[in-house]
Amino acid sequence: MSDTKTVKLVDEPNKRSSELPLLSGTLGPACVDIGTLYKDTGYFTYDPGYGSTASTKSAITYIDGDQGVLLYRGYPIEQLAEKSSFLETAYLLLNGELPSKDQFVKFEDQITHHTMMHESLKDFFKGFHHDAHPMAMLAASVASLSAFYHDDIDVDNAEDRKLAAIRLIAKMPTIAAACFRYSIGWPFRYPRNNLEYVDRFLHMMFEVPSEPLTLSPVAAKALDLLFILHADHEQNASTSTVRLVGSTGANPYASIAAGITALWGPAHGGANEAVLKMLEEIGSADKVETAVKRAKDKNDNFRLMGFGHRVYKNFDPRAKIIREMTHKVLGELGVNDPLLEVAMKLEEAALKDDYFVERKLYPNVDFYSGIIYKALNIPTEMFTVMFAIARTAGWIAHWIEQHETPGARIGRPRQIYTGANVRDYVPADKR
Ligand code: SDX
Repeated sequence: MSDTKTVKLVDEPNKRSSELPLLSGTLGPACVDIGTLYKDTGYFTYDPGYGSTASTKSAITYIDGDQGVLLYRGYPIEQLAEKSSFLETAYLLLNGELPSKDQFVKFEDQITHHTMMHESLKDFFKGFHHDAHPMAMLAASVASLSAFYHDDIDVDNAEDRKLAAIRLIAKMPTIAAACFRYSIGWPFRYPRNNLEYVDRFLHMMFEVPSEPLTLSPVAAKALDLLFILHADHEQNASTSTVRLVGSTGANPYASIAAGITALWGPAHGGANEAVLKMLEEIGSADKVETAVKRAKDKNDNFRLMGFGHRVYKNFDPRAKIIREMTHKVLGELGVNDPLLEVAMKLEEAALKDDYFVERKLYPNVDFYSGIIYKALNIPTEMFTVMFAIARTAGWIAHWIEQHETPGARIGRPRQIYTGANVRDYVPADKR
């Protein structure tokens, strides 16, 4: 007798039943393995938003939406936020364990020595109009890395996969800063190897030829923490996109570029930019009630951006950390942003309102992050680019994991066909 747990599917119309295996992981709900369902029963399953569907097994990140739990390789996000750094977290996501001192020194050195982009890549920017959205420039530039490295990447070679991961984590800040500087007409800045990851990025973003940049430890610490919090998040839309593109054998640069374009949507990573625009549109705390009313009105497509989550039906643990950090960072930087008061009033009003309480709509990672980015003088259009820099660590960790999984197959969902039934061609003069 097999000790595999199963569930029985009773097919009344055809008077038959199937035993489907139940799969369990380290944590989280068990899954019904429906891999043979179509072959055994002729039925597909239907779950268009994948609300009840596990698309893969993964050892990278675990989320418990009801408890508001987020673990990277088993470590609680609260502990990593307090004790780790983004680069150490990137190592953890990629390798599954926290690095020893020597391992971290080697990893940091590898990243530091892959930060430059090809000189000819800079010429690509000249094709963009000055007001091109930085996410458009980022997606195009990262996809174009395939043109520079396409021939030296064998997706089945572990060393090639690791090098691609190093290159992407190292070059994203350089390319992101170039997107920003091109949009404001400033000359690009080369990465400085004597600076740490976040300071190097801030230097490439804000250093001007006319005077040396004074780097702020408060800004660097805040940004490093935001990068940790945004580094990975299980099978979210952009990570699932990276995996689907990766499943075709596409090279890592093309796969990550696909993730960047998926992240751009306002329902996903584009929400942080949309939150700032929403707070600016609301304008002052006395207009919060109206905004909450509009968000509840089904005839109004206004939503409270930064609220709600497919998985978290409790406070997003990242939002809690960012919320506390917002007050600390603005205080330390001496920034008094009236939008913070609007955000806090909005959160207070929504969390007391039945509409939000019944639907378990809480602030998510995007609700407060934009206020901090703004305090660091990062323009609104760059907010999702910041998200992409951090999420590159998670995306490439998932891309590597799927290529390390034996027997991985191309992702190819099916559908419920609702179009016309079979019919014969009608000549034009008879239509
Ligand atoms: C991220 O998946 C991830 O992990 C993503 C992410 C990551 O780290 O990768 O966490 C990052 O993308 C965070 C989410 C950022 N997006 C936003 O803040 C945009 C605003 N939020 C939503 O549009 C929405 O909440 C989603 C997209 C986040 C979740 O959508 P779901 O799970 O499909 O929920 P739904 O649209 O079915 O909403 C359920 C109900 C609906 O009302 P009813 O039909 O039941 O009456 O809640 C309502 C929705 O109208 N609702 C909202 C709302 N979000 C949901 N109503 C007002 N304002 C909102 N923000």
